[in-house]
Amino acid sequence: MAVLVIYATKTGATEQCIKVLAEEISNCTICNIQMEKPSIEDFDRIILGAGVRDGKIYKTIRDFIKKNHNELLKKRIGYFICNEKPKETEEIIERNIPADLKEAAICIDSFGGYKAYAAPKEGSDQLKGIFVDKIKAFSQKFMS
Ligand SMILES: Cc1cc2nc3c(=O)[nH]c(=O)nc-3n(C[C@H](O)[C@H](O)[C@H](O)COP(=O)(O)O)c2cc1C
Repeated sequence: MAVLVIYATKTGATEQCIKVLAEEISNCTICNIQMEKPSIEDFDRIILGAGVRDGKIYKTIRDFIKKNHNELLKKRIGYFICNEKPKETEEIIERNIPADLKEAAICIDSFGGYKAYAAPKEGSDQLKGIFVDKIKAFSQKFMS
């Protein structure tokens, strides 16, 4: 039941979510796609997470989904986004995750995010704006 978690962040919210996820899903392998190329062959469970700007999830994850579309359909996948406006979440998911992948996903959610250009300063609460309960519920559903 190896789990690979692939993510992209710009201001750190997605990375904070990954830390919480890693506590919930023991022994998961974490890959920051901005630093290393993930190899998905060895995993049947994958979580993809990315921040959002102007209605789009970060390009590295968008491109990854495009390139691996057919492979991803064969796996157990969960998607999460980090964004600041809950009202936009549904539309962002709709626009960024192809319909067949969305249909096949185990879970898809927004974990919240930082206000634009207002990431928490060092030493302050790095989980401000992030819904930890949603991360826990997502992890449980994904692993069940
Ligand atoms: C230039 C810019 C554009 C953004 N556009 C959106 C948006 O369209 N919808 C939204 O809900 N949040 C938007 N946000 C908020 C980010 O999604 C939020 O800060 C999130 O935490 C980013 O993820 P990251 O910290 O992992 O990079 C935007 C933030 C910035 C700086």
